[in-house]
Amino acid sequence: MTQPRILLIVSGGIAAYKALELVRLLKAKDIAVRAVMTESAAAFVTPLSLGVLTEDHVYGDMFDLKEEREIGHIQLSREADLIVVAPATANILARMAGGIADDLATTILLATDKPVLACPAMNVRMWHHKATQRNIAQLKADGIHILEPGVGAMACNEWGKGRLPEPAEIAAEIERLLAEAPPVGEPHHLLTDTTRTINAPDLSEHNLFGRHVLVTAGPTHEPIDPVRYIANRSSGKQGFAIAAAAARAGAKVTLVAGPVMLPTPAGVTRVNVETAREMLDAVEDALPADVAILVAAVADWRAADEAPQKIKKDGGAPAPLLLAENPDILATLAKHPQRPALLIGFAAETETVVDHATAKRARKGADWIVANDVSGDVMGGATNQVHLVTGKGVEDWPEMPKSAVATRLMERIADELAGPK
Ligand code: C5P
Repeated sequence: MTQPRILLIVSGGIAAYKALELVRLLKAKDIAVRAVMTESAAAFVTPLSLGVLTEDHVYGDMFDLKEEREIGHIQLSREADLIVVAPATANILARMAGGIADDLATTILLATDKPVLACPAMNVRMWHHKATQRNIAQLKADGIHILEPGVGAMACNEWGKGRLPEPAEIAAEIERLLAEAPPVGEPHHLLTDTTRTINAPDLSEHNLFGRHVLVTAGPTHEPIDPVRYIANRSSGKQGFAIAAAAARAGAKVTLVAGPVMLPTPAGVTRVNVETAREMLDAVEDALPADVAILVAAVADWRAADEAPQKIKKDGGAPAPLLLAENPDILATLAKHPQRPALLIGFAAETETVVDHATAKRARKGADWIVANDVSGDVMGGATNQVHLVTGKGVEDWPEMPKSAVATRLMERIADELAGPK
């Protein structure tokens, strides 16, 4: 059995110190803990002490670009079996109930599809306040598990309900919930990633949870000598947009990228390669996959012999450049023992686009070909006009942004995998 994983969100309150003991107890039970702290929690416990106990980086500021790039908030929740908010202050409970996402912790909580346990802790009057009780009722209705606070003496010299339950009690509740949590990768209650959907359409209706989507993107560089290479004008934008859309639809995404300067989309595992042969190796390493979308503009040829040293002008005739054919990744996957159930290729053509694409579909053994006319400035541009060639015929899609092509393709893929309605 794999080790269960908790994402522990510590919000600011006098009981925050108990989070340290909770981590220690969970680790002793062989439960992995990764911690996120709100800004006010850091006034009560240091990220350092939490980090020492979790043996991991402690995540905090959602606008820390480095963190967002390396491990986005979606990834933080995706890698957990259960999210635990302990202590949960009146403030974070109110933000959760209101669907407010104004820091890393609340953004994770709004975007997650994992079960969530909140352990409220606050002053007795705050606990009994109508607003807090309304929020608790709302959270319960939303499917959030609430561990009722205990009754006793408070740090503020008052007595009543509002104490954080003892760490052992919280740990026992966590174990109980883990026993009934679905395995990582499956949705608990499908919520939309609102922070990412501001500019991106909602793909929650067309979900790819539990699916592995493999995407290739960008050009390849084929070395001639240590300083020169054969390349093409592919920008990688369409492939990266497709990988981003697949992650938004809930898939596990592997993006095998040729040399491009684009940022890695949230929730996507990126493997950087340079040559066609490296791309094929990375693609085969990433199998099995449910869907492969090969968008990369793989160089058809490479230099037959890569010169170990820079080729010199020696005053005579230019050295001939002999070429060798690269492996065709799409055709290789089509015949692979682990062939993805849905294999999609792209066809960049400058004339008789659909005819070429239809022939390519048959020749390479792809299920679908997305064909586009690259006689204009598509390569590097922001929009694309494509035709989807399937076994059933040809769909002509209007010109639209590359991100919209990606979304529409993902909708078609999700519908295809879901089978006939
Ligand atoms: O033959 P052509 O390059 O036009 O085929 C385009 C499709 O085949 C794209 O999906 C591209 O990613 C894929 N391809 C490949 N390996 C190659 C050449 C193309 O996977 N060596």
